[in-house]
Amino acid sequence: MKKLCYSAFIAFWSSIATLLAVQAMATNEPAPTDSASVYSLEEIAAHNSEADCWVVIEGAVYDISAYFPNHPAPPAVLSPWCGKEATEGMRTKGYGRDHSPAAWGMLDSYRIGTLKE
Ligand code: HEM
Repeated sequence: MKKLCYSAFIAFWSSIATLLAVQAMATNEPAPTDSASVYSLEEIAAHNSEADCWVVIEGAVYDISAYFPNHPAPPAVLSPWCGKEATEGMRTKGYGRDHSPAAWGMLDSYRIGTLKE
């Protein structure tokens, strides 16, 4: 009986400790991308290379550096838009044809914020 009480006591406090640990981890974990951040065109302009490429498309800011090597067109097509307002590039691909809905859908995962008005 004494052993059972002891086991129950240990089990109870272990579960409390686990709950507290999980809660602490959840609240301290920084968001991987803070899509609520607001950036000025000046800040965005600093990210103007293939390795560090931010673009503004229809008011939202995207860090497309990770996608850059996977983009189907040659880098020279995309790189002039890095650090800039790139809605026109996205809408025209440089020759007057919009990207597919699939391409537009991909943008979501690269969103890091919104353009400062
Ligand atoms: C903003 C500047 C951009 C320019 C100038 C540009 C241009 C192009 C070009 C020339 C092609 C190949 C030709 C074609 O498919 O018709 C292409 C294809 C593609 N691009 Fe871009 N692109 C840009 C940004 C992006 C971004 C930000 C994404 C996604 C995150 C993306 C995703 C794709 C995909 C998935 C394709 C395959 C065809 C399609 O789905 O429309 N592009 N792009």
